[in-house]
Amino acid sequence: MSKKVILSGIQSSGRAHIGNYFGAMKQFVDLSETYDCYIFIADYHALHSLQNPKEMKENITNLLLDYLAVGLDPKKVTLFKQSDVSEHTELCWIFDTITTMPYLMRAHAFKDAEAKNKEIVVGTFNYPMLQAADILLYSPDVVPVGQDQRQHVEISRDTAEKFNRIYGQGGQTFKIPEPLIMDAVAVVPGTDGRKMSKSYGNTIPLFAEYEEIKKAVMSIVTDSSEGVPKNVYAIHSLIRSAVELDPIYKSKTGKYKELKELLIEDLEKFIAPLREKRKAFEKDIPKALAILKAGGEKAKKVASAKMAEVREKIGVQVY
Ligand code: TYM
Repeated sequence: MSKKVILSGIQSSGRAHIGNYFGAMKQFVDLSETYDCYIFIADYHALHSLQNPKEMKENITNLLLDYLAVGLDPKKVTLFKQSDVSEHTELCWIFDTITTMPYLMRAHAFKDAEAKNKEIVVGTFNYPMLQAADILLYSPDVVPVGQDQRQHVEISRDTAEKFNRIYGQGGQTFKIPEPLIMDAVAVVPGTDGRKMSKSYGNTIPLFAEYEEIKKAVMSIVTDSSEGVPKNVYAIHSLIRSAVELDPIYKSKTGKYKELKELLIEDLEKFIAPLREKRKAFEKDIPKALAILKAGGEKAKKVASAKMAEVREKIGVQVY
């Protein structure tokens, strides 16, 4: 029996942080032992917020090094970038033709931008359709993501069902994927207690140097009315169990500075080996890029076979 498939991606819009790691990347690595894995760099998605070619290039290489350093093994995982597989944007268009405006107006990202009275590019509005194409081209069983992506996976499911219904002749074209969201790390909090996010400036970078970890931890917002500093504990619990942490936090009630210092040391212990691995990959960037290129070629084969099916179904395949 063939292996089950997982697919997921991260936007090349900035530095990866520990929210990305615990919410998503760790699952990619764990699942790559048993699943057929497609993990990609969502560079076309990042374009809706980043229009600086130099930064885009750097971000792509950086995210590739991050993927390799966290332990994604190219022998087990197809690592690729979205822009190498043009079928993503092609299928996005076809999905645009079966999706209504009111449906996409319910998407969180669009509603948030609208609530802030921001000027909204079509790419932001249409973002979920490109994501549906990313996912459905590879027929994954499971899409591991953080909670903030739940709606996008649901939209992908709806879109697959709609296409299958409209173009149902000759059986289903798209498999309906399941989101995989781990409860304990569904929303990793940032230094201010809100969701850790590049756009909030409240992150702890996954490959932070010691001084950076120190600065980020010292900036964690604490409320003097609490015995246990909630935000410090929440981040600490990502790397140490409650059984270990609870007696420590109890014995240091109110001693926020000591607890933060302990968190700095624990984060350093966790991050230092990852940082070292990343530095090793950084020494041979051409080799890393060759992995990405080969992954793109492999992904393209899968995606183009699915697109051939789609073209047949919609009736444009005349020779
Ligand atoms: P992105 O790039 O914002 O985030 C990448 C992954 O990290 C997760 N994540 C978090 N999880 C828990 N707590 C947090 N604070 C936290 N911050 C980020 C995200 O949920 C995500 O899983 N649209 C996607 C990228 C994408 C994609 C796809 C994902 C494009 N196409 C197809 C899956 C399948 C995004 O912007 O994720």
